[in-house]
Amino acid sequence: MEVIPLSTEEITVLRNKTKGTQHSIHFNNAGASLPPDVVIDTITAYLQEEAIYGGYETEAKYQAELDQTYDAIARLINADKDDIALVENASAAWGTAFNGIDFKPGDEIITCEMEYVTNLLGFINARQNHGVIIKIIPNNDQGNFSLSALEAAISSKTKLIAMTHIASTAGGMIPIVAIGKIAKKHDILYLVDACQSAGQLPVDVKEVGCDMLSVTGRKYLRAPRGTGFLFVKKSVQDKLKLMVIDGFSAPVVSLDDFTPRNDARRFELYEKNRALTLGLGKAIDYALNIGIDRIWQRVQYLAGLLRQKLGTMTGITVHDFGAEQCGIVTFSVDAVDSILVKNKLADKHINVSVGKAISTLIYMDKNHLASNVRASVHYYNTEEEISKLCEELAGLIGN
Ligand SMILES: Cc1ncc(COP(=O)(O)O)c(C=O)c1O
Repeated sequence: MEVIPLSTEEITVLRNKTKGTQHSIHFNNAGASLPPDVVIDTITAYLQEEAIYGGYETEAKYQAELDQTYDAIARLINADKDDIALVENASAAWGTAFNGIDFKPGDEIITCEMEYVTNLLGFINARQNHGVIIKIIPNNDQGNFSLSALEAAISSKTKLIAMTHIASTAGGMIPIVAIGKIAKKHDILYLVDACQSAGQLPVDVKEVGCDMLSVTGRKYLRAPRGTGFLFVKKSVQDKLKLMVIDGFSAPVVSLDDFTPRNDARRFELYEKNRALTLGLGKAIDYALNIGIDRIWQRVQYLAGLLRQKLGTMTGITVHDFGAEQCGIVTFSVDAVDSILVKNKLADKHINVSVGKAISTLIYMDKNHLASNVRASVHYYNTEEEISKLCEELAGLIGN
């Protein structure tokens, strides 16, 4: 289906409904996006009601709206709402799924070189505690993930394929749909980190064919900080151990035994921030109303424009690679430390961030990068903002 581009008029309206765009040029969407005003208004109004009427009483009043957050997530990733658990961030989501797996000594985990630090730590921890073997598929010379190398790495011991779709500190992407087909063919558990993808591009868990998927709210979804969710396919829910259990996750309890809930909310706990839950739902509805395919089209356009402009500037090296690239643009400035670049831009009200080696350790080490500058675009950014960023960078390197 043809994607109708977001018009200049629409962008103006969307910007007018995001107060942060009036204050700064925000290219730190891979850190945390600027939320739409309606998301913040929803949260603050809910907190006011809690303060006046009581937390439990307000929850009872908003039960239906709170429940709709699950429906919004289900629509976003094409999942059944019973396969979704709300958690505080992507690391909690990923860790809940990963640590629930019953690893045995000698089990193999296959991953990619773009894996996020939380996940890498999880693998190492599982190696120390359960004696699992970690196999890393390196990107090929063109910077693409090698499906044939993955096929070759699979053995009868392979227990899990775990992939980060979009890395924290690089603009490339891992082909999660093609990998999902391989995982399915070999009947191997498949865990996807979609932390940077949700809200940036369409993610359909049925198309990806994953068993588990972890997401955070504050990045491309434009939801509040401290929100996230985990998808666990129905057929896999009973196979995962519960890491923390309360009377909500396991409502049937005797002195000898307990029975978990019959849905993915068994991976949640009762107590959570209801105001933020509503805010997450609002942010997802907001993105769905715009259209994720339209968002993705504009993000790719703006990121392409930025890479092209940076590519013509002497003294700047763009580090992004691979056949498909996303809204995260990474580069370094000759002889200027990334932190200094970030701070100088911040003086001009331009927000970028520094990609640290620890975040994507395997990739950064392989490419001898101690850090890079990360300018991550979202649909509400403009061509003018990109020009301004490039002007300031030119000033910095004396062009
Ligand atoms: C690719 C990726 N995965 C996971 C995470 C962790 O997300 P959170 O901080 O919400 O736990 C991040 C955070 O930057 C990330 O970039």
